[in-house]
Amino acid sequence: MPRAVFDYIDGGADRELTLLENCLAYDDYEFMPRCAVAFDGYDLRTTVLGMPLSMPIILGPVGSSRLFFPRGEEVAARAASEAGTAYVLSTLSGCRMEDVRSSSRGPCWYQLYLIGGHDCARVAIARARAAGYSALVVTIDTPVSGLRERDLRNGMKELLTFSPWKMLPYVAQFMTRPGWLIGFLRDGGLMKFPNVLLPGEVPMPYADVGTALEQSVVTWADLKWIKDAWGGPIIVKGVHIADDARRAIDCGADALVVSNHGGRQLDGVPATLRALPEIVEAVAGRIEILLDGGIRRGADVAKALCLGARAVLVGRAYAYGLGAGGGKGVTQAIEILRGDLLRTIKLLGCPSTAALDRTFLQARR
Ligand code: GLV
Repeated sequence: MPRAVFDYIDGGADRELTLLENCLAYDDYEFMPRCAVAFDGYDLRTTVLGMPLSMPIILGPVGSSRLFFPRGEEVAARAASEAGTAYVLSTLSGCRMEDVRSSSRGPCWYQLYLIGGHDCARVAIARARAAGYSALVVTIDTPVSGLRERDLRNGMKELLTFSPWKMLPYVAQFMTRPGWLIGFLRDGGLMKFPNVLLPGEVPMPYADVGTALEQSVVTWADLKWIKDAWGGPIIVKGVHIADDARRAIDCGADALVVSNHGGRQLDGVPATLRALPEIVEAVAGRIEILLDGGIRRGADVAKALCLGARAVLVGRAYAYGLGAGGGKGVTQAIEILRGDLLRTIKLLGCPSTAALDRTFLQARR
């Protein structure tokens, strides 16, 4: 991939402290295996909001996946369904939500930003329902886009002006990736968001996203009309603290995602794994808790489950695979995580991911 595209996936906000801490936090815990035990089989299956999944690993929303690989969101959704798990489509996607939905046989959830205003969001919600999305993921941590310094250095702003003079210093990164460039152009060279239909049914252009996000803050009060308009399960994503977990429950959330947006929003917030225990305590089993952030190995998934997450969402861990190898790359990334997780529970002496609990961990001394 060109540097600008790779860094969009790989980078985080400001000093990228939270991005790093999300990964390092898994080292706060050590496993406590039960050895010399054997089981007839090992089970990774779970349910989330009643939907059966082959494993507790879900493909989380990743914006602009169509830039990583032609028809990126469609091929990722297909790979998720072939692996028996769910795919979450970002509002900021390059493929139409109907096309993504029909490329998958498994559960697809729609991640909602209120970009374009409430009327525009109502249209997206109605489309998502009609297309067969089975949960709405409302992201609450993006009142403004985080400062992604790598994007600035790579000229994302200038590239989106489409002015040849402004773009000139940054085009070499695309010329040196002819394979990517040919794929991108053959795929339509698309620079629009077809799931954000502005008045007149015009898809929002890429260049407008920063301003549009700032004009579309999601508040707790919005949860009510969003829930009424959607009429199905709502998952609140971007919970960092126990108070917000309680508020999400009060506002009718059916599940929440402990998430700091992969360290892409407010830098310097705690790693999600470190935030998880107090949120688990505050929620006290009333709704399901998911977690994202820093998951790179199956052992990370196991630790999050031991601490009370029902399942995890992965973003970068599959997006690297998508950029490197399209659908096959996503499948391989999922298989690496699945294989890791299975091996981890076997080595832990635990017959299923559902049976993982705090007793399999100790705080690192
Ligand atoms: C979009 O949500 C992003 O993090 O880039």
